[in-house]
Amino acid sequence: MMSSLLFLLVSISFSLEIDNGKVKGSIIYNRTANSTGWNFLRINLESVENDEDVFATAGRYEGEESREEIYNAYMNYIYGIQGGRHFLPKSLQIYVHNQYNWLKEQSQSQNTPYWRMVKYLLIQLENMYEGYNYHYGKTEKALSFDQFYYLSNMGDLQDLWPSVGQVQTQGIGNCNSFYKPGIVAHSTFNVYQTMLRIYKSYNFKLKDKDVVNPHLSFTARPGDLESKDDFFVLWDTQMVVTETSFNNYNKENYAYFHYDSVPCWMRVNIASRLAKTPQEWTDIFGLHRSGTHNNQWVVTDYNKIFMGEEAFFHYKVHDLTNTLLASQGYVASYNVPLDQEIFDSLKYPKTTSYNDDVRARQFRIYQGNLKTVKEVGKLVRYNKVTAEFDACDGALSPRCDLGNGYTFGGIDGKVISQDMIKNKKVHLISSPSYQNHDPFNWKAYPNIPHYGMTDEWRFPWYEIDETNFTIKELYLDY
Ligand SMILES: *[C@@H]1O[C@H](CO)[C@@H](O)[C@H](O)[C@H]1NC(C)=O
Ligand SMILES: *[C@@H]1O[C@H](CO)[C@@H](O)[C@H](O)[C@H]1NC(C)=O
Ligand SMILES: *[C@@H]1O[C@H](CO)[C@@H](O)[C@H](O)[C@H]1NC(C)=O
Repeated sequence: MMSSLLFLLVSISFSLEIDNGKVKGSIIYNRTANSTGWNFLRINLESVENDEDVFATAGRYEGEESREEIYNAYMNYIYGIQGGRHFLPKSLQIYVHNQYNWLKEQSQSQNTPYWRMVKYLLIQLENMYEGYNYHYGKTEKALSFDQFYYLSNMGDLQDLWPSVGQVQTQGIGNCNSFYKPGIVAHSTFNVYQTMLRIYKSYNFKLKDKDVVNPHLSFTARPGDLESKDDFFVLWDTQMVVTETSFNNYNKENYAYFHYDSVPCWMRVNIASRLAKTPQEWTDIFGLHRSGTHNNQWVVTDYNKIFMGEEAFFHYKVHDLTNTLLASQGYVASYNVPLDQEIFDSLKYPKTTSYNDDVRARQFRIYQGNLKTVKEVGKLVRYNKVTAEFDACDGALSPRCDLGNGYTFGGIDGKVISQDMIKNKKVHLISSPSYQNHDPFNWKAYPNIPHYGMTDEWRFPWYEIDETNFTIKELYLDY
């Protein structure tokens, strides 16, 4: 009895101090998704001489410690998003390899802040793969590097599949981002197979003085080095980065793809490490564009608010501080272009527009007098069926399982105010919205693969304190 209890405790929480002559720091990994909705990973490392050692060590430990979640996330991705296909179509394999080789060559031959970041990210990714395969390489859970890379490259692949005329899956994701002076909130929509999550906090003290954000946190998935669910906190410069994705209805846009480019998941990380202001962030993000994973990025330091809209041939940056924010009192993002040229280039249906989209209307109606973090968090997870709005199509946080049984919808919520960012706190929740509905339960869907997930999804909001990496339970989501 005692020993099995001990085993349980050991396997749920991992922590390690490191001081090996190359790096010093600590790693914490709490596998608490079944009890809180989130696993929590914190990697604090400082380099002794060579910054590359920080990224290699971080990758290695993350790959080893989160290997079980990585395998489960991989299987969930294959069955939830790639329709059971373990391999990319041949032409996409070639594209991904060419791009990877090009990134390696450029990052080895150019010693600039930008390309050093590319080099560091490749090192982190490759070491994470080695850590994973160190344990699983000789088992049935072994993955090739190509397969492992799907997890970080997921957003970019989302645009690459249709470019070769193939449907990856239906309804891959939409999101909300909302800003009211002093408060940022975001919620992600996806197939429920993507609910296996890790909140990641990387604090890397580097010799590289061009890195102005050593400490960044993001809501993520196992094996994914970016926030595919679109929420980053840059603690040093006190900025928040969110996005909502665009749909492409114009096949001609795929002609933009060129492998000599930096994929979106890397550009986000590079901009987040190097930018001091929202403007710098949107500028750096626009370098070496790949045209894959086209999004509306909303970046704020609670003073300025910038929007960067990317759509294949086009990239537009808007300072919304004195325009949309001043006129409307808030900025919302819901997968619809603001810029007309971007809207037209994607051939968005004429039945919608930035101002008249169904979620634009709901934000306008419901945001009214909301002031607190709790109220704004509730807003981005709102799901109220009325004569005008249904539970799936157009809800602020859809529950499509309640409509046609499709296990897709809003899966989380994240909120951070200006006070909270100063005090190193963030609020999050994981679960399809249960505000006006029964909680989602996998028991009703025994035939849909959902590796490593608990059945019932009715988790409360939590507050994370980044100063000591502890969590506090807050309240249920209603
Ligand atoms: C969480 O629950 C699922 C389903 O019961 C199980 O497969 C998985 O091993 C659990 N994860 C942990 C870390 O205990
Ligand atoms: C973590 O730090 C906060 C103060 O920021 C404190 O209130 C809390 O009790 C600490 N938690 C633990 C477990 O030490
Ligand atoms: C991680 O686990 C440790 C040990 O159980 C606990 O003290 C700490 O509060 C946990 N932190 C998070 C963010 O879950």
